[in-house]
Amino acid sequence: MPASPPRILLGLTGGVSAYKAAELCRLLIRSGADVRVVMTEAATRFIGPVTMQALSGQPVAGDLWDRSIDNAMGHIELSRDRDLIVVAPASADFMAKVALGLADDLLSTLCLARECPLLLAPAMNRQMWENVATRRNLAQLRSDGVTILGPASGDQACGEVGEGRMLEPETLAAHISAFLRPKVLQDVRVLVTAGPTFEAIDPVRGITNRSSGRMGYAVAQAALEAGAQVTLVTGPTALTPPFGVQLIPAVSAQDMLEAVQAHVASAQIFVAVAAVADYRVRQASVRKIKKGDQPLTLELEPTVDILQAVSSRPAAPFCVGFAAESHDLERYAKEKRARKHLPLLAANVAQEAIGAEDNALILFDDNGRHAIPRGPKIEQARALVRHIAALYRARA
Ligand code: CTP
Repeated sequence: MPASPPRILLGLTGGVSAYKAAELCRLLIRSGADVRVVMTEAATRFIGPVTMQALSGQPVAGDLWDRSIDNAMGHIELSRDRDLIVVAPASADFMAKVALGLADDLLSTLCLARECPLLLAPAMNRQMWENVATRRNLAQLRSDGVTILGPASGDQACGEVGEGRMLEPETLAAHISAFLRPKVLQDVRVLVTAGPTFEAIDPVRGITNRSSGRMGYAVAQAALEAGAQVTLVTGPTALTPPFGVQLIPAVSAQDMLEAVQAHVASAQIFVAVAAVADYRVRQASVRKIKKGDQPLTLELEPTVDILQAVSSRPAAPFCVGFAAESHDLERYAKEKRARKHLPLLAANVAQEAIGAEDNALILFDDNGRHAIPRGPKIEQARALVRHIAALYRARA
């Protein structure tokens, strides 16, 4: 979020998922935002304004004709000092109003009279979402520059299953926080590798490592937040990909190499976070290997170093490597950066980083060494992306 607390106007319209807006409000407040809530009359049928007032710490507005609001010009004043208007839930009816420019209640009037960006989180029955009128309104809103968050698919309050569920509060809070972040990589094309690879021994067994993919996914997320167009080539992980990435799944080091080769030509920045297997089984068995009482020898052969292959291309993108070292971190990191011809390398202690939630990166570039204080991987990734953007811009 920006240095001064972001000022958000949170609008609620009528829908069962209005209860999720209470949690969203709490998360935004906890992240340091100043939140002012405006509810439509229909929203107050689903959740009490007192709840939203208690959570936001500010009076809740709802009536266009309430003369007590800011010198009786509430329909304009309430959004004047805001960085953002977020309407969650946004009903089909409300989307239609905004698409047409109607202003027959306080919230729609504030949207029409705003100077700040508008984010809508649709929530409705799947047939309402699929209706041609809603599709038309959606297209109009997008072309007017309104940002649409979601909706998700799944069980609906009406008992049906389909698209139209409002995104979960945590997801919405993450999107809002991302929206407010400085766009230091606006429209830059970034290719990221993440996760482990899996090298087959036979149809059911293989060699892999303990990488969870969290750091790579966090880098992809941080690059997206910074405005980049992100392609994420990922080994097998249990993670949900960041919303908005182009996801390319890969299993083996060879798959990952081919996926990177297919996408690298258009990339301006390449960040190799994946823990790629350095060796694979020379001849994987097509049949399941049966147990015996003799020792079993597997012959391993080196895989291609994907990062090195990319950094030695004639028109190589700006390449960033990772190094996970168990000892002599600084010496190995510097040596790796030189050997792979990298403008930037992020190093961490393998036994502390692999599979963990937190991390502490040390960045090595032409200017020396820069330590990022220990913290959640997403914060480490955001600091790394800021560093990448500064070096990339200085080069360009
Ligand atoms: N890397 C890669 N392809 C490989 C191996 C590694 O792209 N086949 C990338 C990783 O994504 C990481 C960097 O290279 O960005 C460092 O990988 P690492 O395995 O730690 O370095 P190595 O040079 O293989 O040295 P060692 O394993 O001996 O530490």
